[in-house]
Amino acid sequence: MQKIKIQGGNTLTGTINISGAKNSAVALIPAAILCDETATIFNVPNISDTAALNEILVYLGADVKRDGETMIIDSSKITNKEIPEGISKKLRASYYFMGALLGKYKKVEMYFPGGCSIGERPINLHLKAFEMLGATVKSESNKYIVEADELIGTEIYLDIASVGATINIMLAAAKAKGTTIIDNAAKEPEIVNVATFLNNMGAKITGAGTSEIKIVGVEKLKKCMHEVIPDRIEAGTYIIAGALMGEKLKINNVIPEHVDSLISKLKEMGVKIIEGTDYFIITKSEKLKPTNIKTLVYPGFPTDLQQPITTLLTQCSGTSKVQETIWENRFQNIEYLNKMGSNIKVNGDKATIVGPTKLTGCEVRATDLRAGACLVLAGLAAEGTTTIENVEHILRGYEQIIQKLTNVGAKIELV
Ligand code: EPU
Repeated sequence: MQKIKIQGGNTLTGTINISGAKNSAVALIPAAILCDETATIFNVPNISDTAALNEILVYLGADVKRDGETMIIDSSKITNKEIPEGISKKLRASYYFMGALLGKYKKVEMYFPGGCSIGERPINLHLKAFEMLGATVKSESNKYIVEADELIGTEIYLDIASVGATINIMLAAAKAKGTTIIDNAAKEPEIVNVATFLNNMGAKITGAGTSEIKIVGVEKLKKCMHEVIPDRIEAGTYIIAGALMGEKLKINNVIPEHVDSLISKLKEMGVKIIEGTDYFIITKSEKLKPTNIKTLVYPGFPTDLQQPITTLLTQCSGTSKVQETIWENRFQNIEYLNKMGSNIKVNGDKATIVGPTKLTGCEVRATDLRAGACLVLAGLAAEGTTTIENVEHILRGYEQIIQKLTNVGAKIELV
C-alpha cells in the first residue's frame, strides 16, 4: 500500500502550474461519445479518475489515444453494452455515461457509481430528469437500466442545484427532440466547460453558468476540439499551501474569477496575495485572523476546499467556524488534524476551530480526496514527519502532487 511521507516545516517557493480540472474532465470524457466522430480534448489531467474513464471508453469499443495531456476519442465504433460494476464503481463520475449513452442510444445499463464516501450521494434527481425526458428507469439491486423510445425535451426543475444532475441532463437532452429547460441549474464553471464542449460539437445550449439552461435538441453532433479549464480546487489547495508555508509561491494557470470566494476569505484573514491575470503569488503572514466559512454552491465557498482550508484555520489566532452545507460526512479529516495537535470540535454540520495550534507530524489516513489534501497541507506545516495512508484517494484528484510540491521545496515522497 502506498503512503505519502512529508517532512514538514519547509518554505514553499517557486511556481506550481495548475492542471486541467478533474471535475470538468470527468464529464467531458463521457460526453465525447455523443459525437460519432473524433473528439480531441486538451489539458486532461493524468489522474486515476481520468484513467478509469478511459478504461470504460475502451471497454465500450472506443479508440482512445492519449498523448500527455491530450486525449483523442473516436467513438464511431462503440457498442452500447452494460457497464460492469468493477469499472463503474472506481469513480463517481462514471454516472456521466448514463446521460451520454442514454442521449446517444436511448438506453443505458450500468451499476451505481462509486466515489468518495462524503455523504449519501443519491442520484434521484438524475433519474427523475431522465424520466421527465421520457425514459423509464429500472433498478435491480445495484444496477440501473434506463431506456426510452425517444427523448423529448421538457422543463425540469432541480430541487437541488446539483452539478452532476445538471450535466447529465445536458448530455441526455443534447440530442433529444425539442427543447429542454433546466431550472435551478448548477452554475459551476465545470458546467460551462461541458456546455461549451457540446456546443463545439454542434449542440445548442444557452444559459450555462446561470440558473436556467436551455438545450435545443439536435440530430447529429460532429467532431471537435476542446480544452479543459484549469482546476480551481487544485489551484485553491496550493494557494492555501502558500498561505501556510509560502514565500512568493506562484500558482500559475488559474482563472482568478473561479477562486474569488477563497481569495476574498484569505485576504480577510491577512494572507499576502498578489493577483495577476492568470496567477497568484502567495506569501505566508506571521499572524492570521480567524474567520467563518459556510460552503455553498458556486459562486459561494466550495465544499471541495472546506477540508483544505480547515488546516489554515488551525493557524489563525482565535476561533473560526466552518459550516458544511453540501455533504453530510465531510469532517472525517478532523480526527486526524486533532491527532496532529489542532483544537477542533465538530457538532453536526459545524466545526469550531480554536487556534493557533502547533501541528506535529504523525500517522494519519486520507478518508477521502479532499480530506487527503487537508492532511497533505497539515503535513507541510507540521513539525516532524507526517505519514498519510490511503493515498489512492489523493492520487485520484491531484495530478503529480508529489512532483509539484517537491519542485517548490517541500520534502514529500510516495513510499
Ligand atoms: N443530491 C441529491 N440528489 C441527486 C444529486 C445530488 O440529493 O440526485 C445532493 C447531494 O447528495 C449533495 C448535493 O445534492 O448533498 C450536491 O450534489 P451534486 O450533485 O452537486 O454533487 P456531485 O455532482 O455528485 C460534484 C463534484 C464534487 C463536488 C460537488 C459539489 C464531480 C465528479 N464531483 O459532485 O466534487 O463536491 O459537485 O460542488 O464533479 C471532489 O472533487 O472532491 C468532489 C466531491
